[in-house]
Amino acid sequence: MIPSSSSTSVLFFLLLLTSATAGGAVGNHSFEFDFLAFAIRNFTLLGDSYLRNGVVGLTRDVTVPTSSAGTVIYNDPIPFSDPESAPPSAASFSTRFTFSIGNVNPSSFGDGLAFFLSRDNETLGSPGGYLGLVNASRLTKNKFVAVEFDTRVDSHFGDPSENHVGFDIDSLISIKTADPLLQGIDLKSGEQITAWVEYDHVAKVLDVFLSFSISKPEIPLLSVDVDLSDNLKGNVYVGFSGSTEGSTELHSVHSWSFNMTGEGSLLRPRSTNPPHNVSDNSIVIPSPEIPSSDSGSKNHKKLGLGLGIAGPSFFCACLVIFGYISVKKWQRTRGSSTTTGKTELVVASGRPKEFNYREVKSATRGFHSSRIIGKGAFGNVYKAFFVSTGTIAAVKRSRHSHEEGKEEFLAELTIIAGLRHKNLVQLLGWCVEKGELLLVYELMPHGSLDKALHHPHDGGVLSWTQRRNVAVGLASALTYLHQECEQQVIHRDIKSSNVMLDANFNARLGDFGLARLMDHDKSPVSTLTAGTMGYLAPEYLHYGKATEKTDVFSYGVVLLEVACGRRPIEREPESQGMVNLVDWVWGLYGEGRVVEAADDRLKGQFETEEMKKMLMVGLSCANPDGGERPTMRRVLQMLNGEVEVKVLAKSKPTLTFSCGLSLSLEDITSDCE
Ligand SMILES: *[C@@H]1O[C@H](CO)[C@@H](O)[C@H](O)[C@H]1NC(C)=O
Ligand SMILES: *[C@@H]1O[C@H](CO)[C@@H](O)[C@H](O)[C@H]1NC(C)=O
Ligand SMILES: *[C@@H]1O[C@H](CO)[C@@H](O)[C@H](O)[C@H]1NC(C)=O
Ligand SMILES: *[C@@H]1O[C@H](CO)[C@@H](O)[C@H](O)[C@H]1NC(C)=O
Ligand SMILES: *[C@@H]1O[C@H](CO)[C@@H](O)[C@H](O)[C@H]1NC(C)=O
Ligand SMILES: *[C@@H]1O[C@H](CO)[C@@H](O)[C@H](O)[C@H]1NC(C)=O
Repeated sequence: MIPSSSSTSVLFFLLLLTSATAGGAVGNHSFEFDFLAFAIRNFTLLGDSYLRNGVVGLTRDVTVPTSSAGTVIYNDPIPFSDPESAPPSAASFSTRFTFSIGNVNPSSFGDGLAFFLSRDNETLGSPGGYLGLVNASRLTKNKFVAVEFDTRVDSHFGDPSENHVGFDIDSLISIKTADPLLQGIDLKSGEQITAWVEYDHVAKVLDVFLSFSISKPEIPLLSVDVDLSDNLKGNVYVGFSGSTEGSTELHSVHSWSFNMTGEGSLLRPRSTNPPHNVSDNSIVIPSPEIPSSDSGSKNHKKLGLGLGIAGPSFFCACLVIFGYISVKKWQRTRGSSTTTGKTELVVASGRPKEFNYREVKSATRGFHSSRIIGKGAFGNVYKAFFVSTGTIAAVKRSRHSHEEGKEEFLAELTIIAGLRHKNLVQLLGWCVEKGELLLVYELMPHGSLDKALHHPHDGGVLSWTQRRNVAVGLASALTYLHQECEQQVIHRDIKSSNVMLDANFNARLGDFGLARLMDHDKSPVSTLTAGTMGYLAPEYLHYGKATEKTDVFSYGVVLLEVACGRRPIEREPESQGMVNLVDWVWGLYGEGRVVEAADDRLKGQFETEEMKKMLMVGLSCANPDGGERPTMRRVLQMLNGEVEVKVLAKSKPTLTFSCGLSLSLEDITSDCE
């Protein structure tokens, strides 16, 4: 939607006002423009953006809170160095712009704006935390280099505060952020703020300066060491995007100048606007590689070409790739960094990406059985070593095939890929190819909570502090999945073997969202693996419908497991009968001696009140009556002592369903090992 200008005379007037100098003469190495006011002829407005009195508004200007996203893009692409000139090196650029973030209603803030460079002239994303830059349903669709001026905390993008400046590549998870308050700048002040973004392609440094005045500060607010040669090549469009989410924040850009200076490399003439016809007609057709869901195979081609493989044989290609990777690795270890190389194979810090099948295969030695570190309902888990980056990771390989519904599957996967929380096992990437689904995760050095509780070896039993930390961390991850992320995620399979422990024994929940990917609306009973039973809420077992509340139940069971060091269903040593952990703890509570449920192996090394609290929170989560269970946010507050734990009935409430479940405990507890 491109808003038409209200009146042509105003437009004309603006054009006269606009002191615009367009550089970029054909064949010249530099390109510049300087708009003291924006002129509609030179910009494309997308989404909710608009132009008024020479000022661009990126989001809707309304007094009632709304969600909105808009983009303004300079019409002409900036001719960065020729993609065909080897080796490609981005040109340097500097830009200066004045913006303001105002507000009709000061308490209603969010989300912010971004300056971006992109290969695409139609970059527009979703409202909310996506800053109008990233498409919420296809997170990897838009490719960009951006500097964000963010006024809201989106924990799934790892935002540090509601006032930060960040540098982003292809994702809103910033590579580096800075707090403008350190230089006395509050982005939401409503005042005009001038920003300078400067990239030096020789030093490979990008600096961002910020000031309330028009003179550039001496010290950059944000300085990032980054090589943008792969991101800035060929024709690149520049612009701004902004978004709100149920707020009345206003995002305006008042003036903008941009200056690109290419050095050394042969530049192609830039393409011109269609109405303009320059005598030199070698128009470059901008061919941004629009990433798509099936870019995996494209990557292969690109890789092949990029490495200049001439041999016809596939095996040759493989050999060359392997050799190349080994050489690269060797160079790296030698500390020599002569090649900038292709970045396709690099696991960039923290941003989930699509992996190349061959790469994953070689990282797991062809899915060799010696690399198996775990088995689950989902498939085998392999330890992988990515030679090109020196990364050690865990790879889950699904036995299922996903040929049908692949699009939908990828859409869901991108949602999951966008989830980010310090208590989640981070997804590094995925690969869907050859009917297989491969998920690449961070490798957790201390394995699962299940192992730490029931088969402790080297480190001994978990201490009370570690257990409390696990309880809080897990609650925090679930609060995020249930209440804080863009699209609610129900885990469906919370159990101690799905909770990993990182190097500092922090809980990291794994497999989130997978149940949703794997078996849509399948009854849990049909996928029941022995050992899962004790974690499932009665109504889930009965109706097969997973909800927030069924997750809370499972969390409650894990909490009791952590406090008591017992499995959810265990064989009683004396009577040989099966004991349900929830029943057992509730029984002790009814008799007023709940603390006796504490793990004996702790040898009393805990604070009694805290232990009692953990057990009580566990019981209230594991209440058979779903309506009585607290939300995860509430649980977190209870554990942190911000609210009181609700007093429970002395005996466990009983619940009856119309028909009984045919599964008996004996049937499914044979794995008590
Ligand atoms: C703005 O657009 C007009 C018409 O397309 C063009 O002549 C002029 O060079 C452009 N100015 C800049 C700075 O791009
Ligand atoms: C490039 O253009 C600028 C003006 O836009 C001019 O000053 C400079 O001399 C030109 N350089 C070359 C190499 O043509
Ligand atoms: C993007 O660029 C292409 C090629 O120059 C052009 O045809 C198209 O209209 C542009 N899209 C927008 C929204 O400006
Ligand atoms: C996101 O991408 C989908 C599919 O390409 C498209 O239908 C949708 O309009 C996009 N959303 C935004 C906000 O651009
Ligand atoms: C662009 O950069 C060149 C070289 O640094 C400089 O001479 C020129 O004045 C700059 N132009 C603008 C508009 O900032
Ligand atoms: C544009 O260039 C083409 C090919 O050089 C020519 O035929 C046409 O007349 C030109 N149009 C204008 C408006 O100059």
